[in-house]
Amino acid sequence: MKTLMLNVNEIEKAAEIIRQGGLVAMPTETVYGLAADAYNGRAVANIFRAKGRPMDNPLIVHISELSQIYGLVREFPEKARILADKFWPGPLTMILPKSARIPDEVSAGLDTVAVRCPSDVNARKLISLSSPLAAPSANLSGSPSPTSARHVFNDMNGRIDAIIDGGECDVGVESTVITLATDPPRLLRPGGITLEQLREAIGEVVLDDAVLNPLKSGEKAASPGMKYKHYAPKAELVLLRGSEESFLGFVNSRKDGRTAVLCYDEDMPYLELPFIPLGRAADYEVQASRLFSALREADDKGFERVYAHCPHTDGVGLAVYNRMIRAAGFKVIDL
Ligand code: TXA
Ligand code: MG
Repeated sequence: MKTLMLNVNEIEKAAEIIRQGGLVAMPTETVYGLAADAYNGRAVANIFRAKGRPMDNPLIVHISELSQIYGLVREFPEKARILADKFWPGPLTMILPKSARIPDEVSAGLDTVAVRCPSDVNARKLISLSSPLAAPSANLSGSPSPTSARHVFNDMNGRIDAIIDGGECDVGVESTVITLATDPPRLLRPGGITLEQLREAIGEVVLDDAVLNPLKSGEKAASPGMKYKHYAPKAELVLLRGSEESFLGFVNSRKDGRTAVLCYDEDMPYLELPFIPLGRAADYEVQASRLFSALREADDKGFERVYAHCPHTDGVGLAVYNRMIRAAGFKVIDL
């Protein structure tokens, strides 16, 4: 299959591909998504094939206006209304009881559906010209999510119909996922909308265990995506927890030509081996926006081992921590 590269003036062409049951990678404010008509089960099944994604991992349905939610869910509780009011359009996904119209391919047989209204203008235009879109991140299953059209092309060329090039994504990590199908609501995946913001809006929100910890063997994931190895670069990533001094001492003693450091901007003058800066130590938003492209860059440059600071877990730091700890397969060294 030939994969068309489209620019943002060709969204009508992309919408036609969607209406015909095809697959289009679209920019969003978080990461690129691989979209199909959410009401077309056959088209949605092709998403799983193109990504090599396990069929038991459900997809997020993207809408361009709130009214579309009534075709997707059975109930729209008060807390969901408050969150939609406050954070949509934006990087928040809500899990709600699903309507009978949702094909099983979207929800992987669950009784719930994940819904999000992205803020990216091009994603919204594509949705309004076609239909609500089922879309996971547009990477091959297991590799870091794509934050540019180039990343998508590298993973998906020849496997999908088209890619809309909307430039680099702002947020850079996938949306926050909260389930409102349980009471109290639970945070299943941290992202650009923080746990602190959610609690301020609706009160109690439980932090699901799987956000910080590996699943214990035999344990059932509240969100099926959490049980898979994720975001992993080919290089071995190891996180280091300790003072700035001990971090610099540790990495500078590992100059072997095959090792690199994902560092904070402040580290740069002191590093004696190759590095990829993630932003300032206190700037979690910038770190989130650069993380996935930094992991891909480490692979492109052929490094075999990458060391990084173990992130903090407040604010958007929690999203950075959650992605990095998985990319590292939970390998953390206390210095
Ligand atoms: O920012 C994002 O959310 C991006 C962009 C494209 O919108 N999408 C994205 O999709 O990250 P994906 O498929 O890579 O991640 C969706 C996550 C998975 O962990 C999946 O298991 C979970 O949401 N999920 C989807 N539907 C669910 C449901 N009904 N119940 C529990 N978890 C669900
Ligand atoms: Mg994904």
